[in-house]
Amino acid sequence: MTALDLNSPVAVVGTGTMGQGIAQVALVAGHLVRLYDAVPGRAQEAAAAIGARLDRLVEKGRLAATDRDEARARLEAAESLTDLADCSLVVEAVVELLEAKQELFRQLEDIVGEDCLLATNTSSLSVTAVAGALRNPGRLVGLHFFNPAPVLPLVEVVSGYATDVTSATRAYETARSWGKTPVACADTPGFIVNRIARPFYAEAFAVYEAQGADPATIDAILRESGGFKMGAFELTDLIGQDVNESVTHSVWRSFFQDVRFTPSLAQRRLVESGRLGRKTGQGWYDHRDDAEPAEPHTAEPAQPPAYVVAEGDLGPASELLALIREAGIQVREDDEDHGSRLVLPGGGQLALADGQTSVEFRDVVYFDLALDYRKATRIALSASQDTSAQTMSEAIGLFQALGKDVSVIGDVPGMIVARTVARIVDLAHDAVAKGVATEEDIDTAMRLGVNYPLGPFEWCRRLGRTWACSLLDDLHERDPSGRYAPSLALYRHSYATEKREGAS
Ligand SMILES: NC(=O)c1ccc[n+]([C@@H]2O[C@H](COP(=O)([O-])OP(=O)(O)OC[C@H]3O[C@@H](n4cnc5c(N)ncnc54)[C@H](O)[C@@H]3O)[C@@H](O)[C@H]2O)c1
Repeated sequence: MTALDLNSPVAVVGTGTMGQGIAQVALVAGHLVRLYDAVPGRAQEAAAAIGARLDRLVEKGRLAATDRDEARARLEAAESLTDLADCSLVVEAVVELLEAKQELFRQLEDIVGEDCLLATNTSSLSVTAVAGALRNPGRLVGLHFFNPAPVLPLVEVVSGYATDVTSATRAYETARSWGKTPVACADTPGFIVNRIARPFYAEAFAVYEAQGADPATIDAILRESGGFKMGAFELTDLIGQDVNESVTHSVWRSFFQDVRFTPSLAQRRLVESGRLGRKTGQGWYDHRDDAEPAEPHTAEPAQPPAYVVAEGDLGPASELLALIREAGIQVREDDEDHGSRLVLPGGGQLALADGQTSVEFRDVVYFDLALDYRKATRIALSASQDTSAQTMSEAIGLFQALGKDVSVIGDVPGMIVARTVARIVDLAHDAVAKGVATEEDIDTAMRLGVNYPLGPFEWCRRLGRTWACSLLDDLHERDPSGRYAPSLALYRHSYATEKREGAS
């Protein structure tokens, strides 16, 4: 089954933000595109807006003027749904209400030909439920574009329970022929991206709710240590707290209130207060013109230790030893396996976040996971009230000597980056085990859909297969609500790897 022929007209119904973007994509790819909107005049306005966007592409040198002129000539505003009768694909981007979408497709079924592919751009409804209204639900597929559709490459191609393989394949190939990167996905709450990305927000909000750190510090750690493009607080201020919260609620409800997707009380209060983010001038941050930018906590300069003793294997943080040596600090290796840690001259210990709390140990400082310890510009440290001032000062001085800013946060198990990455890795394994998508497609979706520096499976391979499972086990022991319980899929993966490694 090949992509839709370029001679086939494509219709876009609902010409708001997404409809305009999708129409532009199909148009620039070479199709004749018909726009229809329930509000009279809106399709014409959308055509004009798309035309203006094409003009800007010409001004920027990204589109030839002749291509723009031809594209404009192929763009038509339809007066009624019956004008879409000869279309080979109708993409729906109307209001996010099941009844509205079902009613639209019911009407379209009586208008378009038998071969016409029907697609919904829903981001939170079940594709199966949308198709449930049709006589032939097999021809309906989810084509989930991301905003702005002309810019973002990812398209989730969602197969509902009844979607024909031929329809899904045709939609997939068509998206690819339009220059997009499609990923195939089963009809599951949140599809791939909105399902697996939930912990990115939830864990940041949970650390904040636990008084572990303020939004600016958590965001700085996620960016400068975790390698994420934006922190969870600034990103949700950009998306809109109401929009982000409603996706979380929808996924949580659709999973029958699965505790792993529980929404945040702090975010609820923010929405209730009308602080929706940039669009209202205030959200987690104050975006008003006269507001002072919020600064992350950054520790004052401290004296670095003259040496550290490295005990055991630091696992994902092993690279630190080379960095410490390069900074002129002596590393004394102690082969006896007392655990995986660095011992500081004053006798205190420095350990990679492992899902336990500092208070459980004598004189321990935890440091957070970094995507790449060489490139990270900030490291988070956490300690309990029992940690000595000397240990904390030596730990701060050590990371500062490596050129890092240091943020000291509360004694939160799994800290910030470590717990976030572990949960993303877990949800990704769970999704594959439930048949949502392949490992490769999940990695692609998370890199392109939400800009993660690595896909969850790439990240997991880098960290070692047992790392996430063991961290989540520790977190689960301390919070037995089920939120952190590693999925069976992650367990299987971890133990299978351990066995294989043990046998070799
Ligand atoms: N905005 C996003 O970031 C985003 C991203 C991915 C998917 N989506 C999904 O795309 C769809 C559209 O979202 P949007 O942000 O473009 O909305 P929007 O409000 O900007 O546009 C919706 C348009 O649909 C029209 N409309 C409503 N009911 C209609 C009907 N029955 N028939 C024809 N036209 C109708 C409205 O007049 C409006 O012009 C939703 O399903 C949404 O969940 C949105």
